[in-house]
Amino acid sequence: MTSRPMRSETSSEAVERYGTGAVAFHWTMFLLVVAVGILGLLHDSWPKRTQAFWINLHAMLGLLLWLTLIARFWWRIRHRPPSLPSGVGDWWRRLSGPLHWALYALMFVTPIVGIVTFIWHGRIFDFGVLHLDFGVRSNRAVFRPTEDIHGYLAYAIFALAGAHAAAALWHHFFRRDGMLGRMWPMKEVRSHAGRQP
Ligand code: HEM
Ligand code: HEM
Repeated sequence: MTSRPMRSETSSEAVERYGTGAVAFHWTMFLLVVAVGILGLLHDSWPKRTQAFWINLHAMLGLLLWLTLIARFWWRIRHRPPSLPSGVGDWWRRLSGPLHWALYALMFVTPIVGIVTFIWHGRIFDFGVLHLDFGVRSNRAVFRPTEDIHGYLAYAIFALAGAHAAAALWHHFFRRDGMLGRMWPMKEVRSHAGRQP
């Protein structure tokens, strides 16, 4: 599946870093998941007259997230991730790959179910200059179950991404093995234990 190694830089603790592209994709998508997730959770809280606007904004950012994921995927299969720091235990080595792929899969499927919910709720995509109307009439039998499934998938992303972030912070503050520094935008963030003069 991989062809070329990802460009990586070696810190003074000889921990390989993710390349600039991978780091940019990771943190852009982090911000998008947070924004889209918050807008999704608030969708029932808006006043009726502005609800369509906020749901459309949720959909626009959700679509952007989905397109960014496709680009990231394309990038990822061409750039091998750096090897894990030597201090990382066996169970984490086995678990981290499947966990990352589960996150990719969830971020791929959730927007698709969201799109189905959006269209079968009779909503129109408003891109500002362009309106995309599929002409589908609101159909409760379709949008009710898909809305629920979309919500459950979103909660699965929050749970998995939350556990993933907690694990990264645990590695950084307790294991001090340089794991977080591999994905951090600035090279200076390192594990305290390994810091060199
Ligand atoms: C990974 C990306 C996305 C996340 C994390 C996400 C998250 C959420 C969440 C948490 C809810 C509330 C669910 C509930 O209250 O049970 C929601 C609702 C919804 N989302 Fe998303 N969403 C994403 C992408 C999309 C996309 C791309 C679309 C459509 C193009 C979309 C359309 C909708 C619709 C139509 C609803 C129901 C709102 C309504 O019509 O009442 N979502 N989303
Ligand atoms: C929406 C939230 C997040 C999502 C969806 C997400 C997703 C991912 C994915 C898919 C990877 C694998 C990259 C690859 O090799 O292809 C990754 C790696 C990584 N992420 Fe996140 N992430 C999120 C938030 C965070 C946060 C908040 C932190 C830090 C506190 C973090 C720290 C890391 C680190 C250190 C790695 C590299 C881990 C390793 O190589 O095993 N992530 N993330």
